[in-house]
Amino acid sequence: MNIQRPNLFLGCITGTSVDGLDIALIRIADSQSIAIERAETVPLPDKLRKTLLELGQPGADDLDQTGYCDIELGHFIGEAINSLLHRWGLKPTDIAAIGSHGQTIRHRPPTANRPYGFSTQIGDPNQIAERSKLTTVADFRRRDMAAGGHGAPLAPPFHQALFGHLSGTTVVLNIGGISNISILGKTPSGFDTGPGNALMDSWCERHIGTPYDQSGKWAAAGKIDESLLAACLSDSYFQLTPPKSTGREYFNLTWLNQYSKLSTTSPVDVQATLCALTVTSVLNAVHQQAPGIRQLIVCGGGRLNNHLMSSLAQRSDFTVGPSEDWNIDGDAIEAALFAWLAHCRLAALASNEPAVSGAQGYRILGAVYAS
Ligand SMILES: Nc1ncnc2c1ncn2[C@@H]1O[C@H](COP(=O)(O)OP(=O)(O)O)[C@@H](O)[C@H]1O
Ligand SMILES: [Mg+2]
Repeated sequence: MNIQRPNLFLGCITGTSVDGLDIALIRIADSQSIAIERAETVPLPDKLRKTLLELGQPGADDLDQTGYCDIELGHFIGEAINSLLHRWGLKPTDIAAIGSHGQTIRHRPPTANRPYGFSTQIGDPNQIAERSKLTTVADFRRRDMAAGGHGAPLAPPFHQALFGHLSGTTVVLNIGGISNISILGKTPSGFDTGPGNALMDSWCERHIGTPYDQSGKWAAAGKIDESLLAACLSDSYFQLTPPKSTGREYFNLTWLNQYSKLSTTSPVDVQATLCALTVTSVLNAVHQQAPGIRQLIVCGGGRLNNHLMSSLAQRSDFTVGPSEDWNIDGDAIEAALFAWLAHCRLAALASNEPAVSGAQGYRILGAVYAS
């Protein structure tokens, strides 16, 4: 008997910026055709956001707090899905599954001393399945890591599926808390280039009390401190050859505090320098790994930072633009990725890219929690 499954999938993620829960609805016509139908970001309650940020900092990793927060976030995601489905006029039975990434609170990729890394996401999928009555797919990174990979970034094969039809060398840049690039091609490559918005966000919060630098106006008012920038860029992460991945447990204010020049540079100039750090580290990576690039498609919240975007464009001899220039909502892509990963899991399709993660081979990613 051939039971027809619905072809709508939901995906959701709270990214390293911990700014909100991104939810996307996609339609899969066949494995080649993905349409992003709807997307929305649901803000996180302040207290939950604060706890998630705390848990992401090594040293603040109390097991009880982690356990309760896992449940609380899973519960929040389940309820958020219910109210969104209601508003969108959809029933759980219209949806094949939801892919939920959850919140990364620790990402430790493999190193020379430890051949297997780990990556911890919370947002209990049992809670999501229980509240929403949806088949829930989660835990997307650890199988790749068990095969010796970084479990990150997961986006390149999906970026390839969305933008692979474009001609000329194309790079997709996602500027979330951390930045990652996908270099499109028959076998896409890609890696985390380093900080995206995370350092700028934390610096803003500390000095001007806002969660981020609206349009990059504060950074635009400062002057880049070249010696601080050079010191930051000398960090060994930027010299590593891919595969490589990183997170907020590495690029954070503690990391920044190690640079003595910080204490004699005015806060606004530090902000300008942090913006330049994101831009320079991205462009260095692009030039090194994608010579001859024709277009850089930018997604994630960083594309709304006008100062960052104009700095990127000014320093590039190729086309730079937000993904909207290619008719795709740049806030929807990451959540849509997890919807696509849920589809791959249910169809038993491998969805990692060993050339990206360094895993020993292709693997089916994700664990299924029945509806
Ligand atoms: N209008 C804006 N101006 C400048 N930066 C913005 C704007 N909107 C969002 N951002 C940045 O984008 C971040 C969120 O991006 P997002 O793609 O959701 O990252 P993540 O995947 O890490 O959650 C915010 O923390 C902020 O730094
Ligand atoms: Mg986000």
